[in-house]
Amino acid sequence: MVNQTQQILRSIGIVPVIKMDTPDHAAPLAAALRRGGLPAAEITFRSEAAVDSIRAIAKKEPEMFLCAGTILTPKQAQQAVEAGARAIISPGTNLDTVRWCVQNNIPVIPGCASPTEVEVCLREGLSTVKLFPAEVLGGVAMLKAMAGPYAEVNFMPTGGIGLVNAGDYLALPNVLCCGGSWMVPGNLLAAGRFDEIETLVREAAALRDRVRPQA
Ligand code: 3PG
Repeated sequence: MVNQTQQILRSIGIVPVIKMDTPDHAAPLAAALRRGGLPAAEITFRSEAAVDSIRAIAKKEPEMFLCAGTILTPKQAQQAVEAGARAIISPGTNLDTVRWCVQNNIPVIPGCASPTEVEVCLREGLSTVKLFPAEVLGGVAMLKAMAGPYAEVNFMPTGGIGLVNAGDYLALPNVLCCGGSWMVPGNLLAAGRFDEIETLVREAAALRDRVRPQA
């Protein structure tokens, strides 16, 4: 992954993972994320609204580091990039998707759940991977164990992370950033309660600043 992307993700620290219900909520949500102090989003391809939401955010909040998540195929990766996504994130290591991204110079963060998958990604020339589902796999202990053999690999742990444990992850040198859905709960999004979402984002950003004061 290009260095600049790594720097951006390290400084943002926490990436909200979002399942959009309607593209109408995309622009006000993105504004709430920015105001709360986390100018990044992973919009998951788990809803019909994903592509149009990415397009809306890219237009209204061009400074935001906008990622597409739950990308399972090269076709979805292409749709996401055409809509304005700047990075592709997937739950597993799908070589078709990885190679499409590498060939098109698009940052890609594939999910890994084992050393074998990390090595598959290394062979593709990647040095940043997602650890998913992080808590189920052993969380912080798993990442500490991975730091031994894979000292050059950066991780984006996601899955089971919340305000209560995000700091433990962010304190690890091999964690680039964490991902999590806790800042944008579906019920608040559906109700358009963007002020409350902003409060949750602000709490997360404050935690990041405590654990990583230089960011
Ligand atoms: C993901 O796709 O990364 C996860 O579903 C997010 O996990 P969480 O909902 O446990 O934060």
